[in-house]
Amino acid sequence: MKRKILCVVGTRPEAIKMAPVILALKNEPWADVRVLATAQHRHMLDQVMSFFGIKQDIDLDIMRPNQALTTLTARLLLEMDGVLNAEKPDIVLVQGDTTTVMTVALACFYHRIPIGHVEAGLRTWDMQNPFPEEANRVIAGKLARWHFAPTEGSRQNLLREGVPDSDIIVTGNTVIDALLMTAAKDLELGIELDPNKRLVLVTSHRRENFGEPFRNICRALRTLAENNPDVQFLYPVHPNPNVKDVAHELLGPVSNFVLCDPLEYAPFVAAMKRAYLILTDSGGVQEEAPALGKPVLVLREETERPEAVEFGVVKLVGSNYDVIVSEAQRLLDDEAAYREMARGVSPYGDGHGAERIVNSLREYFN
Ligand code: UD1
Ligand code: UDP
Repeated sequence: MKRKILCVVGTRPEAIKMAPVILALKNEPWADVRVLATAQHRHMLDQVMSFFGIKQDIDLDIMRPNQALTTLTARLLLEMDGVLNAEKPDIVLVQGDTTTVMTVALACFYHRIPIGHVEAGLRTWDMQNPFPEEANRVIAGKLARWHFAPTEGSRQNLLREGVPDSDIIVTGNTVIDALLMTAAKDLELGIELDPNKRLVLVTSHRRENFGEPFRNICRALRTLAENNPDVQFLYPVHPNPNVKDVAHELLGPVSNFVLCDPLEYAPFVAAMKRAYLILTDSGGVQEEAPALGKPVLVLREETERPEAVEFGVVKLVGSNYDVIVSEAQRLLDDEAAYREMARGVSPYGDGHGAERIVNSLREYFN
């Protein structure tokens, strides 16, 4: 008997990390794979879906400009009744810690449909950081039946919360599956850069940084660019207006700072490979960059991804102007310090995460 598996994606990172799972499930004769896009992100989600050649069966087209968390949650919950009544899946797979994940998990709980949580067990143990993602993943984790934990550390977090060991499967993070699938292709960045200049790649979008912390980050980036005219900076700017408007105001006029729209996944992987150093508050980039041997300075006070910090290849610098400027300058000036952080390690996965998830579902259903 075929089992109906509803795979949910809402935002760019969910689509990147769920794509390998969807593609692997589609090869399973016992699985009737359905894809639900809440489209919490529109353009950034579409970019990823078309890159991986995945077409959604249902699209809620939920995104609105500058959406508020409560409205987004309420609208999603209302839509999910109709989806679950019509689809009646045997299992729903969600990925990560977005509003889509939390809301779909809650709706499935009300409908008594079991949930598999991909990228389970990441914790900072601080509800305000990252906001609202820590709460989203704690809630999804409370409601999930299968916890696909990327690392042994995330397994330990779940055990500490009382999740039975038998419900946790350590799989590695599927972002490394996606990265390896992509990095193996011929990649074009599509943006003209000076081949003789080092590149600093930047991304930033976290809600807890909105306002003064994000302005500090931009001021620090501007100082770095002005003090290092021989280095070029590339920042694909997140379309959230709280980010975009400030980034363009503070960094737009700086001549060695290139601001561009969000890059498609393959060009972004090309940018990571081309980069000398990466400054980011992104979760996914913290996982991918170490696998590519690129040092990362994390523009956050805390991280739920401590493994690469422990390896010494990722460092937290928060949103403090002085710390960001001095740590980045040190890596630009001190080659020994740079080399220490530019070791290629991949604590988050080996490229077989999706395979392990599918194996455990196959075992369960057959
Ligand atoms: C969301 C997730 C965050 C994740 C991030 C990945 C929540 C609460 N936040 O944050 O965990 O790290 O995605 O990028 O779930 N927008 C567009 N086009 C797009 C996407 C976004 O214009 O394709 C703009 C819209 O104005 C939208 C706003 O960005 O309202 C915010 O989108 P939203 O998904 O609420 O939050 P993100 O900051 O993107
Ligand atoms: N990414 C991308 N284009 C960009 C910036 C990032 O494809 O312009 C990819 C990146 O490689 C990673 C994912 O998007 O896989 C991270 O998404 P984001 O930073 O938006 O979310 P987070 O991981 O912080 O939840």
